[in-house]
Amino acid sequence: MLKILNVVGARPNFMKIAPILAEIARRSDDISQILVHTGQHYDESMSRRFFGDLGLPPPGINLEVGSGSHAEQTARVMLAFEPVLVEQRPDWVVVVGDVNSTLACALVAAKLGHRVAHVEAGLRSFDRTMPEEINRLLVDQLADLLFTPGADADENLRREGIDPAKIVCVGNVMIDTLRGQMERASASRILEDLSLSPRGFAVVTLHRPSNVDDKTTLDQIMGALGTIAERLPVIFPAHPRTQTRLQEFGFNLSAGIRLLPPLGYLDFLRLWSQSRLVLTDSGGLQEETTALGIPCLTLRENTERPITIKHGTNRLVGRDPKRIVSEAIRALDDDQPHALPPLPPLWDGHAAERIVEALISHSL
Ligand code: UD1
Repeated sequence: MLKILNVVGARPNFMKIAPILAEIARRSDDISQILVHTGQHYDESMSRRFFGDLGLPPPGINLEVGSGSHAEQTARVMLAFEPVLVEQRPDWVVVVGDVNSTLACALVAAKLGHRVAHVEAGLRSFDRTMPEEINRLLVDQLADLLFTPGADADENLRREGIDPAKIVCVGNVMIDTLRGQMERASASRILEDLSLSPRGFAVVTLHRPSNVDDKTTLDQIMGALGTIAERLPVIFPAHPRTQTRLQEFGFNLSAGIRLLPPLGYLDFLRLWSQSRLVLTDSGGLQEETTALGIPCLTLRENTERPITIKHGTNRLVGRDPKRIVSEAIRALDDDQPHALPPLPPLWDGHAAERIVEALISHSL
């Protein structure tokens, strides 16, 4: 029987692993699996709530590494993961996304001679100041199987000299989760709890160190959000890093900006999917808004997900406050109903099936 060890660590990993776990469970006659949580994220609101919302089983093993500098965090995951691998001896280690846990576990597995499969391979921002870009480049060099979300990712990998036989274009696994959870999310009472009407508000998420760790940059972004909040309520569920910085820098939030703690998957899906506009520096949300046709402004200078601009509703607006405000006003003034553009290929809710099928066929 094939044995698969799935790794998660941080919030954006949970929605990527969920459909893969479910698909493997469906094929439990042929495959066994174990879920390892590195503990990179550990708060109820950053981790545990997602297990409930996404119907994930509790992790079989939790490495409980917690927060730290990049070196500390990566090293702690490596130290804790090595004995797990030695004991478990899986046929495949499946890692998802681009967080520190993804790299740490891929590196340990590759050195111990275990096969590594990387889900969401091939994304590139071409910006090596992003820690995630370093993680992506290295994990893709180490992986034995690279599951890509689309053709641009395949092209990036080929350009880096990855053997095309290792690349399998499976589509976007996060969209499997989005489709699978829409109905449950519609039962969320978040709009009623916040007294919001559908399409009557904007949603903001910010957590990139490049946006929130520098006082001047954060000040400018918050100023732009304050101007947008004169038009409509701006709902801002803030990552712990961002909450800390806002307090540390002593910002007084403009009227109209409503700061919330991080939300669970279902409440957050309900919230952004009913919003008029999303402003974000998240990678995943650029894709999710594209899938549902919600206008999205990305407060970054680059994106590893250009397909959301080419095929979707995403606009890269950078961090200049004037540009953020003018693009937001443009999006808000655009009241014409738009036909939803065709979804990028393979954003069809079946990526996890293709992943598990390929894991099986590459094990023969
Ligand atoms: C990590 C990922 C990033 C991803 C993000 C999603 C890396 C390099 N970065 O960034 O790609 O977009 O997760 O959230 O892996 N904290 C808590 N509770 C938690 C977790 C974190 O309070 O459960 C606080 C701690 O102060 C911690 C800080 O958030 O120091 C940053 O956490 P960390 O895991 O280092 O990176 P993220 O910014 O969350």
